[in-house]
Amino acid sequence: MRNWFMRKQKNKQKYMAREGLVGWTCPSNIALVKYWGKKDEQIPQNPSLSLTLSEAFTTTRIKYSYDPGQSAQNISFTFEGKKQAAFQDRIQIYLDQISAYLPFLTHCSLEIHSENSFPHSSGIASSASAMGALALCLVSMEEEISGKLNNNFQKQASFLARLGSGSASRSIFPGFVLWGSTPIWSDSSDEYAIPIQVEENSYKDIRDSILIVESGQKQVSSSAGHKIMDTNPFAETRFKQARNNLLRMEEILKQSMWNGFIELMEEEALSLHAMMMTGRPGYVLMKAGTLEIIRKVRDYRKATQHHLGFTLDAGANVHLLFDAAHEKEVKQFIDAELLTHCEQGQVIHDRMGTGPKKLNI
Ligand code: DP6
Repeated sequence: MRNWFMRKQKNKQKYMAREGLVGWTCPSNIALVKYWGKKDEQIPQNPSLSLTLSEAFTTTRIKYSYDPGQSAQNISFTFEGKKQAAFQDRIQIYLDQISAYLPFLTHCSLEIHSENSFPHSSGIASSASAMGALALCLVSMEEEISGKLNNNFQKQASFLARLGSGSASRSIFPGFVLWGSTPIWSDSSDEYAIPIQVEENSYKDIRDSILIVESGQKQVSSSAGHKIMDTNPFAETRFKQARNNLLRMEEILKQSMWNGFIELMEEEALSLHAMMMTGRPGYVLMKAGTLEIIRKVRDYRKATQHHLGFTLDAGANVHLLFDAAHEKEVKQFIDAELLTHCEQGQVIHDRMGTGPKKLNI
C-alpha cells in the first residue's frame, strides 16, 4: 500500500499506554464543482471544489484507553445521547479499514459520542461533518498516544476522513477547498484535500441558506449513486466537464466574477442530477419544490440583478448561495416566496466558515 500516508510514516511510531479524552467540531461543506464517481480506495474520478460551512457541524468526543497488551478493540457509539447500532457498525468497519494507518487502534477501547448542530431529520448530508470530526479526533488521539506533535495534522485528518466519506476530506479546511489531483494546483492530491487561497475576492462573506424541501433518508444513497456512475454512458464526458469547470472556477475566483460563479455553480448542480437521471438505473431526487425554487431564484435574479444562485447535493434540498451585501432582500425573498416549498418551512441560514475547532476538554 504505497500512498502518501505510508510514505510519510517511514519510521514506526512508538506508543505509550494511556487514557484520555479528545474532541472536535467539524463543519459540513457544499461542493461547487461536484465529486460524483470514484474508483479504487475512495479515489475521485475528477477533482472537486467546495465551500466549508459554519453553522451545520458535527461535534464528536472520544474517551479512549490505549493498552498495547489489549488485543481486542472495544467500541461504543452514541449519537445525540442514544445508542445507534447502524452507525456503530459503519464506524467499526471504518476503524478496521484505517487501522492499517493507525495500528494503535487495534489496542484501544473507544467511547464515541457524536451530535449534530442541525436537526437529524433535516435531510442534510451529515457524512462529511461526521467523518471529518471522527478523523480529527483520531489524529489527536495519535498525537497524545505517541507523545509527538504531528506536522501534517490536517493533511492526515483529510486523508483519513476521505476513507470514511470522500466529501469529508474537504471539511477539514476552511473557505474554498479542493480535493483531487489537478495540474492547476501543484500541491493537489487524490488522497487528501487542500485549502485554496483566494486573494482579493468578493466571496469572503458568502451566505448559504439551505432550503429543506425534503427531510429524512434519501431513496438512493450517495454511495449507491457513485456506483451507478460506473456504468453511466455519459460518465467520461462528465469527468471531463468537471475538470474543465475547475479551470473555469480558478479564473472566476481570481477575478471575483459573481456572474460566472453563479453560472458555473448552477451548471454543476444540474449536471450532477442529469447524471442521476441518465444512470442505469436512472433516478430522480429533485422534487416539485426543488424545481419551483430553481425557477423562482432565476426569475428573482433576472428582476433584481442580485448575486444569488442555487446548488444541489445528492437530494431534493436547495442551497441558495448569495452575496452578504444583499442579505436583507434575499432573506425577505426566501420568506415570501420559497419557504412554502420547504418541509414545515425549514431553512438553515449558513455561511462560509472558518473550519473545524478542537474542543478544550
Ligand atoms: C453530491 O462524499 O457522500 O455531495 O465518498 O461515498 O461517502 P462517499 O460519497 P459522498 O458524495 C458526495 C457527493 C455530492 C457531491 C460532493 O460533495 O462533491
